[in-house]
Amino acid sequence: MGSLSFFKIPGEFHRAPDPHPWKDLDHEVPVVDISSLEDTDSREGALQALRDACESWGFFQLLGHGIPRELSDKMMEVAYKFFDLPAQDKLVYCSDNVLDDVGFATNFEVSKSRRPSATWQEFFFQMCSPPCDPSKLPENPARYLNVSTSYGAEVTALARRLLELFSESLGLEASELAGRFEGELMSMRLNHYPPCPEPQLTIGIQPHSDINAFTILQQDVEGLQVLHDGAWVTLKPLPGALVVNVGDQLQILSNDKFKSVEHRGVVNGERARVSIACFYSPGLGARIGPIPGLVNEECPAKYKESLYGEYAKASLSMELNRKSALSTLKVDDQKPELPSTLFNLWNKHW
Ligand code: OGA
Ligand code: NI
Repeated sequence: MGSLSFFKIPGEFHRAPDPHPWKDLDHEVPVVDISSLEDTDSREGALQALRDACESWGFFQLLGHGIPRELSDKMMEVAYKFFDLPAQDKLVYCSDNVLDDVGFATNFEVSKSRRPSATWQEFFFQMCSPPCDPSKLPENPARYLNVSTSYGAEVTALARRLLELFSESLGLEASELAGRFEGELMSMRLNHYPPCPEPQLTIGIQPHSDINAFTILQQDVEGLQVLHDGAWVTLKPLPGALVVNVGDQLQILSNDKFKSVEHRGVVNGERARVSIACFYSPGLGARIGPIPGLVNEECPAKYKESLYGEYAKASLSMELNRKSALSTLKVDDQKPELPSTLFNLWNKHW
């Protein structure tokens, strides 16, 4: 890119003003350690910490998760190497549908005219469970296939464990949530944010909540911010930790006990940043609504039931902005019954 300081970023990258101030209170973001769950006291402590984090922040840094550090580091390394390839080598994977098996995109938000501004980002995505066709994955770097396959399998196994822990921390049987995740999906998205000469003017990824059940993210350079108490709080990378956040489906299933919180990615002027986000969700045909065990007279169902696939398609057709799709399912919104609302939206945009 040459000397960054002489370079002005094009106007379409200028982000809309944000009403929330920026706070660097990284130490407040909860840390949850699940290394010693066999011990009854530690287990109770970890479940309590998990519950508190999901209720108050919707985010936590996870330690003791069991994914070997060496494998996480290799995954980061192959991701950086892939993004270092010349543009034409990456563009062969181009896709504008994130529900595809494998794809690469950069600023497709702008071409789809459904984003407030262009983002300082490119990304590559692939299905990990069920696994994508390996012949569609990058051949360069050479280790990409092996490393991403192992990492995807480890993260999926971790997600299944977390699903049990989320169940227990909601006071349910450990298997309750898993029973609703028929046809589980795990997709991985490698986000690349190149250094930016005017980082404060743009954004890496717009404020959004994740539409899936929960996300497991690895980052080595800071840039991820979570909205907490009306301010953006930076999640400082904690060595060996993975960032876990509640997504819309877990908020619905937990009947609003767990929060799917807005977050965004900011960019910096010094160095490239890669984050590896793994999105866990039920299958597209799964019916998602508040779990009956969490609904009672004091706490009536807050959401209508919907098919996850409809929710996903409707969300992807909306502007990536705040929590629009979640609010269409709110019972007290008095909106027309699903699925017609979502289908109308879908037809309008696709
Ligand atoms: C995402 C996301 C944040 C980051 O991919 O959904 O929120 O730090 N990424 O890249
Ligand atoms: Ni996200």
